Amino acid sequence: MHIVSFSNQYHCAVAPLRHCAVEPFLLPLGRFYFVIMKKFKRYLVTSALPYANGPLHIGHLAGVYVPSDIYTRYLRMKGEDVISICGSDEHGVPITLKARNEGVSPQVIVDRYHAINKKAFEDFGISFDIYSRTSNKIHYETASEFFLKLYNKGEFIEKTSEQYYDEEAGCFLADRYIMGTCPHCGNENAYGDQCEKCGTSLSPSDLINPHSTISGSKPVLRETLHWYLPLDKYEPWLRKWILEDHKEWKTNVYGQCKSWLDQGLQPRAVSRDLDWGVPVPVKDAKGKVLYVWFDAPIGYISATRELTKEWEKYWKDSETKMVHFIGKDNIVFHCIIFPAMLNAEGSFILPDNVPANEFLNLESDKISTSRNWAVWLHEYLSDFPGKQDVLRYSLCASAPETKDNDFTWKEFQSRNNNELVAILGNFVNRTLVLTNNYYEGEVPARGITNDNDESVLKEISVIRTNVESAIENFRFREALKEAMNLARLGNKYLADAEPWKVVKTDPKRVKTIMNIALQITANLTIILEPFLPFSMEKLRGWINTGKVKWSDAGKTDLLGAGHQINKPGLMFDKIEDEEINRQIEKLLSTKKANETAAAKNKPSKDPVTFDDFSRIDIRTATILEAEKVPKTTKLLKLKIDTGIDVRTIVSGIAEYYEPQDIIGKQISIVANLEPRSIKGIESKGMILMAEDKDGKLVMVAPADKVSNGSMIK
Ligand code: 2FM
Ligand code: ZN
Repeated sequence: MHIVSFSNQYHCAVAPLRHCAVEPFLLPLGRFYFVIMKKFKRYLVTSALPYANGPLHIGHLAGVYVPSDIYTRYLRMKGEDVISICGSDEHGVPITLKARNEGVSPQVIVDRYHAINKKAFEDFGISFDIYSRTSNKIHYETASEFFLKLYNKGEFIEKTSEQYYDEEAGCFLADRYIMGTCPHCGNENAYGDQCEKCGTSLSPSDLINPHSTISGSKPVLRETLHWYLPLDKYEPWLRKWILEDHKEWKTNVYGQCKSWLDQGLQPRAVSRDLDWGVPVPVKDAKGKVLYVWFDAPIGYISATRELTKEWEKYWKDSETKMVHFIGKDNIVFHCIIFPAMLNAEGSFILPDNVPANEFLNLESDKISTSRNWAVWLHEYLSDFPGKQDVLRYSLCASAPETKDNDFTWKEFQSRNNNELVAILGNFVNRTLVLTNNYYEGEVPARGITNDNDESVLKEISVIRTNVESAIENFRFREALKEAMNLARLGNKYLADAEPWKVVKTDPKRVKTIMNIALQITANLTIILEPFLPFSMEKLRGWINTGKVKWSDAGKTDLLGAGHQINKPGLMFDKIEDEEINRQIEKLLSTKKANETAAAKNKPSKDPVTFDDFSRIDIRTATILEAEKVPKTTKLLKLKIDTGIDVRTIVSGIAEYYEPQDIIGKQISIVANLEPRSIKGIESKGMILMAEDKDGKLVMVAPADKVSNGSMIK
């Protein structure tokens, strides 16, 4: 988007035609729309508060924190009034579970990871203005006030429902505290909210043989009162606000919101029966806390309050532009639920944009904490000390902006060796070494310039504009590529001008060449600063300049004749194959350890009588039709000929079988399993699957074809 100044109040931008509706701020012009963008007085940038129950990995940096830091650094350099807010999300059931497993209090867990993660952000130059935490007093006060305001306005519905209660432990059980057998795949360790084997989302009442993970006892249903935010009431407003007024949001974000809204919103409980969290601040709410997703986004407000007395100008003035940086799993909370809360409260602004990223995979596999499939930031730093910018660079260059993307160590090595070393480092080093050699580090005056010199000098401003436009539209990969074009330009300029040859015949001309190369170098310290802050600080030391302003980018006299530069060091060094192989081997041994753990066949189950066994009606059947269940990744809806009837069975095998490949296949089913509703579809029976050592599911079929409905005994 190319921004041209329009007035003090507004910016005018030309955007390619993407959405069709025309609105007051969207003026059509041929194939393009003129988007009249409001010019804001200040910026409030928030980055998802990471849970304080584990360390950070590259997925966190790539998806949320590197982009938010680039954006914030850029705005600061422009002289904008901007604050960047983050902190630890210290509530929620997983934290209490981890604490219980370790036999410590949740506070011990969050203290530990808050410190580790705060340090990791500092180490990687993620320049938050505050890194707060939701166990702070100010957060308890802010979240309680927020709840009370909605409560007093009558915005909540109070509703009693039946939930599982552990009579031995004397407490209600969060879904994660209940385990049992998954009705879909038979996994005996399914949680009350999800079976991690087949991926089906469950509710505790779906589980066969549910038991409490606290006492092991069978939980009983008990009535409990909770407060619900009636999201359905805000649906028409949300539809307009997102689907009509924010057509400029990223396609992945807009699409996910549309799909949530099209499914219809339901009232959502904002409280839980738990002893860890912000207590519900009303009478008769003993043992009840605010739901973690109610209190966490309020954490952005508490952190701002903690940062500045003037917090209200950031949160309550429509001239503030609020941007939430998040990963795709947080979209519904930041685009639908939190805005509905803010709207219900009435005095806060809403986000102007929510540039959520997709996920980063690692060497073609999902990053997973439980499988230790990750590159942890603290481990990276001890393996590659001082190379924070290399990781920032490679994560930004392959950020999952529009789709999930893969991080590979080979690509990381190539980004370093072929881009940072060969392009940026090479140009800077040549320029500074030659200036030191030829002129003892004194910037030479620029003499008469030729056409090529002039066009190179002009190109600097073009690159600046391209970088600006990409950053302002949250296209950070493109912005980085454009910024690196400045180093490419410099390299090409030196390679064409060959000062090392010309110096023998025309030393005057070389002064002009080196002056121009030095202006490009000085511009690099501005344009690359948001992306590579550590390296640009080094470079500023070498060229002996101070703090940089974005408005200086494009200037061609940043280093005056006679200015003294220093001797350069090495900005980047080559990463050798051995270092990369060591990382790859580390991952391979993780994979092996995971496979070995999974390969341990479980011991045989307790004996059952023949009568018990014969109550289960196992038969052969044939798949007649198969289709994916919409909005799920793991489920297939199958029409089955059982020999006794034709029925529907929903099965969690979509990851292993394509619908078209299994039509006509003969399989084995449990024909008399109680029907269950899965994603609103009545599933009658279960397909028998063998689970391979790596968790892969394979259909169990008769060795030879038999007629459908044959009993398996
Ligand atoms: O997904 C997560 O890691 C959450 N802790 C993000 C919370 S963002 C905000 F709402 F605080
Ligand atoms: Zn399952």
